[in-house]
Amino acid sequence: MMEEIIIHGGRKLEGKLKLQGSKNSSLPILAACVLVNGVSVLHNCPVLTDTEAAVRILEHLGCTVTRRDHTLTVDSRGVSCYTVPEAMMHEMRSSIVFLGAMLGRLGKAELCTPGGCEIGLRPIDLHLSSLRLLGAEIEEQNACLHCVCSKKLKGTVISLSFPSVGATENIMLAAATAEGSTTVLNAAREPEIDDLAAFLNACGAKIRVCEGGAIRIDGVKELHGAEHTVISDRIAALTYMAAAAACGGDVLLEQVQTAHFLSVNRVFEQAGCRITAKPDSLRIQSNGRLRAVRDIRTLPYPGFPTDAQAAVMAMLSTAKGTSVMVETIFENRFHHVHELNRMGARIRVEGRVAIIDGVPALTGAPVTAVDLRAGGALVIAGLCAEGTTVIRGVQHIDRGYENTEACLRTLCADIERSADCGSRQQPIQPPVRSVLG
Ligand code: UD1
Repeated sequence: MMEEIIIHGGRKLEGKLKLQGSKNSSLPILAACVLVNGVSVLHNCPVLTDTEAAVRILEHLGCTVTRRDHTLTVDSRGVSCYTVPEAMMHEMRSSIVFLGAMLGRLGKAELCTPGGCEIGLRPIDLHLSSLRLLGAEIEEQNACLHCVCSKKLKGTVISLSFPSVGATENIMLAAATAEGSTTVLNAAREPEIDDLAAFLNACGAKIRVCEGGAIRIDGVKELHGAEHTVISDRIAALTYMAAAAACGGDVLLEQVQTAHFLSVNRVFEQAGCRITAKPDSLRIQSNGRLRAVRDIRTLPYPGFPTDAQAAVMAMLSTAKGTSVMVETIFENRFHHVHELNRMGARIRVEGRVAIIDGVPALTGAPVTAVDLRAGGALVIAGLCAEGTTVIRGVQHIDRGYENTEACLRTLCADIERSADCGSRQQPIQPPVRSVLG
């Protein structure tokens, strides 16, 4: 039975919200547990379909995992399996980050490539070439990878042509227990990378970020278990901020690491919101009458995150004037535009550029989320629209937003989830599987 999210729009958002733990941090940290010969305790792990998919992979590999609320205990002493079934790999794209950890722990790995998705090809060439430089022998056959290390992986200098988040994570994982030192030049600098390094270092790894952004990993013999608290989810924070900005209101986000998105606050301020930032909380006040923002470009951290592009576009669809957003990370990440336009937005896409002519108001409509962040954008649009919005494709939203209706209800939104029994008369669009994070 397909579920739907139903929103009666037009309410101001008011109140406090404790932010969930970061999805994009939890997934590589869960993969890192494979490297550990011991028991790891991870606090602040969000309950999401993606984290549950990662837990299933861990269990398949031989770990014992228990969850108590937001704490996961992972006993990795029994890791022995070196294959991940295709279905598990396809459940989420981030599953590729298990590759580095499996090579580090087991010296071999067999898994299928996660494949492309709606936002583009999502290649993994940088992951594979980097692991080969560390000494892995990788054969690609029918979209499956057969990887072996006939000798122990050996540290080296790896210069990435693009600061890929996933490739940087895979290198850190594979190099943590390699022989000698690895230096990653042009490494990704996202906060999730620092969080992964913090967990691995707590487990006995020797990883540090050098001046200029290179990452140096001094290989150690073995990793032991450790306790770690995952950072808060900066993308979920930005999504709730965009909702408050678009609807108007006064929202205090708690348990955030404000430093992680200071550079993004400027966009909300330019749109006319007031931001009050403390180290671990962030207050956004908006009268709901926003101004256009001329030039927003998605870039690697600390630039504007590609994961927040859809949410902020929904927010700007009712801003006064014309906003322009350029997507430089992924070639095909504008699927929300069609649905926002069905709700009355006026957005044109020219290649990687979206031109948003602000309209006075959006109108509720039946819409479909085709990926996680597009789903977040539709929730924002529904919250600020006049009338009722029914969102399908809710499973995409559940990949990254924990209990989103309950969170928004604490902020006074009128939002609920219901099972669609097929009675509603609305056009159903073909389902599109998404693995986008
Ligand atoms: C990206 C985002 C990350 C976000 C995640 C989920 C950036 C830099 N990265 O991480 O913040 O949380 O999506 O939405 O914004 N690429 C290659 N070859 C590779 C790997 C990547 O060409 O082997 C290219 C991709 O096609 C893309 C870019 O590099 O154009 C970004 O890739 P990468 O950072 O690796 O993506 P994710 O790790 O998925």
